[in-house]
Amino acid sequence: MTTTTALVEPVTVAGLSLTSPFVMAPMTRERSPHGVPTPEVAAYYRRRAENGVGLIITEGVLVDHPSAGHQRDVPRLTEGAAEAGWRLVTAEVHAAGGRIAAQLWHLGSQREPALWTPGTMSGGDFETLLRAYADAARVAVRAGFDAIEVHAAHGYLLDEFLWPVTNPGGHHRDFPAEVVRAVRAEIPACMPLIVRFSQFKERDFGARIAATPAELGVILDGFRVAGADVLHASQRRFWEPAFEGSDRNLAGWARHLTGLPSITVGSIGLTRDFAGSDRMRELLDRRARGEYDLMALGRVLLGNPAWVRLAEAGRFDEIRDYRKADEEHYA
Ligand SMILES: Cc1cc2nc3c(=O)[nH]c(=O)nc-3n(C[C@H](O)[C@H](O)[C@H](O)COP(=O)(O)O)c2cc1C
Repeated sequence: MTTTTALVEPVTVAGLSLTSPFVMAPMTRERSPHGVPTPEVAAYYRRRAENGVGLIITEGVLVDHPSAGHQRDVPRLTEGAAEAGWRLVTAEVHAAGGRIAAQLWHLGSQREPALWTPGTMSGGDFETLLRAYADAARVAVRAGFDAIEVHAAHGYLLDEFLWPVTNPGGHHRDFPAEVVRAVRAEIPACMPLIVRFSQFKERDFGARIAATPAELGVILDGFRVAGADVLHASQRRFWEPAFEGSDRNLAGWARHLTGLPSITVGSIGLTRDFAGSDRMRELLDRRARGEYDLMALGRVLLGNPAWVRLAEAGRFDEIRDYRKADEEHYA
């Protein structure tokens, strides 16, 4: 890596023009009292947009149903104060040249106490939740978001339908795709719809929704047909192969199986020396080879809002190693 490596280059994905292929991964911060994002939240996202992040995906935003989650300070997307709070966030990000997607979230059995899971939902519950997702998407459009991301990863409600351990009978296994369809119907046809999925679960890193590429293809094709434009393949380390016999990562398989653009993520930049390392080169090379279109940064952006700019300029000394304590700071 030299100081002349261009990281911040314009790219258009699913019709969305971005100033850079770097994405801020969704990270729950619990800084929105009673579900309402504050001006501090707007400034936090703006700082990343000003510093080389082309697309921000918000922290998980709870859909408006009591079963979705219980945390007081996780944001929501309801009419009134929350919508106004988000309008300020999107305006600040746009003023910095960035784009922003709202991540729609339902905790499922990871809500304490769990109210709705694949095993407890029936009949009208499905309609109720489809409405809750669609309502949140409608408010997001009004609040100025550029895209929507449906959170179907990490063992939360939608992922529970996909995972045989939490849904052994395959009960309503297409419910996550139905959610995608309901959101698609609510937002403008030109607005990108991203679906985030993962093999691992927060409570089981070895878990898998698909044992083979063919099984993964069935799930992802369901999303595509329902109206997904971009697949966000959540992985813990981007360089790990998703299946034996190929070194393609999960985002690589998503793109290969569906033809849709994909986002990779997982342990990018966690140590100061990453930006100038062979791993950084590998990250860019895999993209150049067509494995994925966009690269999402999670934890590194907590303590280094300007990571992309610093990496591009070769100012590695100004980059801080990621520390767990960064998750408590908010700057
Ligand atoms: C504090 C924190 C909160 C997170 N919250 C979310 C979330 O709300 N939604 C989501 O899909 N992923 C969430 N994640 C996962 C990240 O989006 C990302 O996939 C993960 O941190 C791996 O990327 P990294 O190695 O670059 O940090 C969270 C991660 C962290 C560290």
